[in-house]
Amino acid sequence: MCGIVGVLSAQPAAPLMMDALRRLEYRGYDSAGLATVTGGTLARRRAAGKLAALQEVLERDPLAGMSGIGHTRWATHGPPTVENAHPHVAGRVAVVHNGIIENHAALRAELVAAGATFESTTDTEVVAHLLDREIADGVSPEQAMARVMPRLTGAFAFVVLVAGQEDLLLAARRASPLAIGLGDGAAFVGSDAVALAPLTRRIVYLEDGDWAVLRRSGVQVFTGDGTQVIRREQVSTVSAAMIGKGNYRHFMEKEIHDQPEAIAHTLHAVIDPGTGSATLPPPLDDALGVAKITILAAGTSFYAGLTARYWMESIAGIACEAELASEFRDRRAVLPAGGVAIAVSQSGESLDTLMALRNAKSLGQRVLALVNVPESTIAREADGVLLTRAGPEFGVASTKAFTAQLTAFLGLAIALGAARGHIDEGEALRLVIALEGVPGRVATVLEAEERYLPIARDLARARDVLYLGRGLSYPIALEGALKLKEITYVHAEGYAAGEMKHGPIALIDEHVPVIIVAPSDGWFDKTASNMAEVRARGGRVVLLTDAAGAEALGEGADHLVILPDVAAEVAPILYAIPVQLLAYLAAVEKGTDADQPRNLAKSVTVE
Ligand code: M6R
Repeated sequence: MCGIVGVLSAQPAAPLMMDALRRLEYRGYDSAGLATVTGGTLARRRAAGKLAALQEVLERDPLAGMSGIGHTRWATHGPPTVENAHPHVAGRVAVVHNGIIENHAALRAELVAAGATFESTTDTEVVAHLLDREIADGVSPEQAMARVMPRLTGAFAFVVLVAGQEDLLLAARRASPLAIGLGDGAAFVGSDAVALAPLTRRIVYLEDGDWAVLRRSGVQVFTGDGTQVIRREQVSTVSAAMIGKGNYRHFMEKEIHDQPEAIAHTLHAVIDPGTGSATLPPPLDDALGVAKITILAAGTSFYAGLTARYWMESIAGIACEAELASEFRDRRAVLPAGGVAIAVSQSGESLDTLMALRNAKSLGQRVLALVNVPESTIAREADGVLLTRAGPEFGVASTKAFTAQLTAFLGLAIALGAARGHIDEGEALRLVIALEGVPGRVATVLEAEERYLPIARDLARARDVLYLGRGLSYPIALEGALKLKEITYVHAEGYAAGEMKHGPIALIDEHVPVIIVAPSDGWFDKTASNMAEVRARGGRVVLLTDAAGAEALGEGADHLVILPDVAAEVAPILYAIPVQLLAYLAAVEKGTDADQPRNLAKSVTVE
């Protein structure tokens, strides 16, 4: 989604803003721009495409000024052209914006009727016009902001720069994230603390509906009704040193290889390494009182939730559903008193998941946030927080956040099962030991990365790929298909293996690779039958299994991958690794951009 930055500095603003925008590239974008105030007037540079294109514009036509705003745009209203790139300027006002102004059409009609001329097809431009009209009426920029904010509907964040005001930025947020950075004689604003990391780690997070006045000497924050409030200054957990690819080709490759550590850190956030006992965060701490768990998430986080449903039922003995946040958010679901919703999100900012969280609260559920970003909106709005300790994830395709979410969920299920008496002490210990062994097994899989190259070459050339799995392996099949289509643009579908005969079997011929996720668990024999059905129709089988599974079925596979033996309950965490590697290596083979695939955004803050 769009990236925002604003700078009031004692140094030239353009290089600082370009640097911050580079750190926001991971969010996904298709055009970019900067504006500064210099000599009292607004100056602007914009380009379609990546930041390299904007850099070329700046080299031809440098941008002076120590105060500025910058933006990477992920197109919503209108194509990614220079005209639609931010900042948008009307008279003396420039605006950069993330999210959607829902009532923009009505506002635009009103402004046009009053004589305004629009340069772009974006919803953003109405904000610049509304503010400029107020300032033209003789009010201060701050008063203009107070008047305009109540007129806007939707979920958004924006930052405003005003001609003639070299020591002023105005910033506002409603549902979309925005972080203010405090410097020494400087002030900054950005979409997240990652953008600001090299500039400052002193961060003030705006609450929903807040707007702020930034000056080099300090920041004032106001609520939507104009009341001035104090928002706590925090020290960001993100340091500049955490933001890099190291020796890896892509962030995604690095993040795949970060997983032994990410899993181990997350594990120890739930399970005490000394005693092996697991702890429960609120609102799950009243384990016996939990009537039902409703997991709310999108994309990969949803697949973590689907996996968790099996664990919550079988290990914790609790009724559990995993719901797509984008659907749940508007449902009048019937949920029991004493129910707990778990909002799962790497970024903690996915708008659908945030809205689903709010809906769950309105339906009487208490909410636990399972997020990777402690300062995120979802973390702040939940009744309790469990952090995955994956570290910042920049690749658009989620990898280490997924296995960290799985780890946290399994830890929770063990703790709940033990606290509710659904599993005895011995079983809890067996599961904890199995979970403790996962980081080492993951490292073993990663050491054999080369093993996946010939299969990845095959996938890169395919038109369609099917992923099949049963039980705990079904969500991994879904995740494998999502990873492949996201970063290689090869059409892929994940199916419950037993569903194949109800339709997808019609797709199978010798051109379709079928990836079968089949550890030798309680579902294995049935999956074996589905594999036989694929082979009978000439499909090319890639079998991901363990030594026992290879013994039973290996001969029937065109490609056989043997993974380390693990307990069935932890297998989803381990089997996530080969499907990630296959997608990543297929993307490298095809030459697609694994970190910033087309059309995708890292954190989806629109509806
Ligand atoms: O930040 P979140 O976990 O809430 O993001 C949810 C999805 O947008 C995300 O998992 C998306 O599906 C990824 N691109 C998957 O790789």
